[in-house]
Amino acid sequence: MSVKTEVLRLLTEARGNALSGEALADQLQVSRNAVWKAINKLKEEGYDIEGVTHRGYSLKADAEAISQAGILSYIKEAWRDRPVVVLDVVDSTNNYAKILAASGTAHGTLVTANEQTSGRGRRGHSFYSPANTGVYMTICFTVDTDFAGGVLYTTAAAVAVARAIEKVNPTVHAEIKWVNDIYIDEKKVCGILSEAVTDIESGRINHVVVGIGINVTTEHFPEDVEDRAASIAGRGSGAIRNRLIAEVYNEMMDWARNPEDQSFMNEYRDRSLLIGREIVYTAADQTGLRGIARNITDAGELVIETEDGRMICVNSGECSAKPAR
Ligand code: BTN
Repeated sequence: MSVKTEVLRLLTEARGNALSGEALADQLQVSRNAVWKAINKLKEEGYDIEGVTHRGYSLKADAEAISQAGILSYIKEAWRDRPVVVLDVVDSTNNYAKILAASGTAHGTLVTANEQTSGRGRRGHSFYSPANTGVYMTICFTVDTDFAGGVLYTTAAAVAVARAIEKVNPTVHAEIKWVNDIYIDEKKVCGILSEAVTDIESGRINHVVVGIGINVTTEHFPEDVEDRAASIAGRGSGAIRNRLIAEVYNEMMDWARNPEDQSFMNEYRDRSLLIGREIVYTAADQTGLRGIARNITDAGELVIETEDGRMICVNSGECSAKPAR
């Protein structure tokens, strides 16, 4: 890790409390001048670091810009060599990641942005992506798989995000609404859009880009989603985005070491918002099939008991659930 990243990690751990230049230099076994340079670089990147006379430096408790150093300070050693792209504004991190994928970027390339101007959701929806209050990230995986293998990246991402949200905000319980939305207290806080890049000749998928959008401290949503959307933390908790990005990334990269591993599916089912509830299922070619969500298979299909007593298995579409159990 660079001195800058290490300094940021220590200031983040001490958040709000001052650390002297000497203490930082001793702990990192570098000169005080190296610490001073690192602090200046961090300030240039937008970190709100205060120099307190005779006491040292402190990172304002509520200050956070997303940055490469900030994200890397939480990424596990094993994955710190992967490219991390941090953009201020982009149309969509998925679009950006697909361009990188086409040019042969490394497995595990991470693209994040502070704001998206055309954030995309599933089924042609948009994803509201205002500046400073959300996480907009895409991980680019190099794979060799078929469609079923590609689907697992989405279901694994749902579990990864749920775990990461609970790590950064232990007061909440994150549930998964099939296929891949994350809910807290019956409101959507995160959506996931996975896209495959396919080799035309072999018909195999050679890249999967997994795009994740999390409302972190967003307070006001567009009218069409305002009654269904929420954020994972309240105002004043802005200092968690770098960690949240890294926690999701660590979880996903660990899982992708062995992408046939479906052991996370039990947790996916345990976190399901739908199992046992009355639902209305809508597929592209169908309107309003009523039933009860009974299970989710290891392949990620939803098992529905229809009103006329049939059991059907579906692998795409939308569900709405009747209000709480
Ligand atoms: C959905 O809710 O339907 C999925 C939303 C996915 C949003 C994320 S934000 C990062 C990445 N870039 C995009 O344009 N979309 C995904």
